[in-house]
Amino acid sequence: MEPTEQPRNRITLEDSVPHTPLEDTATARTALVVVAHPRPDSLTAHIARRTARRLTDAGYRIDLLDLNAENFDPRMTDADLPDWNNREKTYSPEVEGHMRRILAADVIVAVFPVYWMQVPAILKGWIDRVWNYGFAYGRSKPRLAGKRMLWLGLAGAADDDEVVALMQQALSAQLDDGIAYYCGLAHSSVGLLPGAEEKPQRLDAAGNLLLDEALTSTARDAHYAALEARATGFVDDFLAGDRVAA
Ligand SMILES: Cc1cc2nc3c(=O)[nH]c(=O)nc-3n(C[C@H](O)[C@H](O)[C@H](O)COP(=O)(O)O)c2cc1C
Repeated sequence: MEPTEQPRNRITLEDSVPHTPLEDTATARTALVVVAHPRPDSLTAHIARRTARRLTDAGYRIDLLDLNAENFDPRMTDADLPDWNNREKTYSPEVEGHMRRILAADVIVAVFPVYWMQVPAILKGWIDRVWNYGFAYGRSKPRLAGKRMLWLGLAGAADDDEVVALMQQALSAQLDDGIAYYCGLAHSSVGLLPGAEEKPQRLDAAGNLLLDEALTSTARDAHYAALEARATGFVDDFLAGDRVAA
């Protein structure tokens, strides 16, 4: 499938994200920022907005894909099932539209809450339906070859919970190895942001759920400032790698 139209330069999360000046749009590289959270006032959406701003500051034009706001349907449909005998299959108009947005992007950044050690269903469904046979895989040179991707996952587990290392491993195996490598992306990394809940929680050795006291005032501010700084660090590392690759 070849791109037939330019993707929309839409930014719909409520905070303003500075637009790339018009005169730069012809040359600016495009970042597709994919957000998978139902609430625009969530911490996930907040981190997505900060990420978009950082990318804009680095000269990227942003295509913000808010999967919930756009009512993306994660359920696989007959029209979007692969036809193993036809890798040129035309998929549903919705999926073809998403494919065009991916094709137009130089980099992709997904921002999501970790659900059960995985990406949430709406993001998984986007991958299942859109990263499809003949487009994302099934060719010696998939259409996604050379693109770079960052996955930013917010998790409720406390920073020092032992499960965090396991979560990082599980997400990297699924997203970097299972998906991005298979689809020929030039780079994929997972930036895990634990401590996303007001009351950090962990399991003790006996399997008991321990809920910490809710953070308040300055401790709370410091906690979220550190989480934001970590997110920015992941984005900056990703951008630094971009410059080296170019
Ligand atoms: C269905 C569901 C599953 C979750 N699974 C996990 C999990 O496996 N590990 C974890 O650390 N947090 C888990 N959480 C907590 C979320 O990661 C956390 O609430 C979220 O990142 C907070 O960000 P938000 O305020 O933007 O929603 C889960 C939350 C929900 C609703």
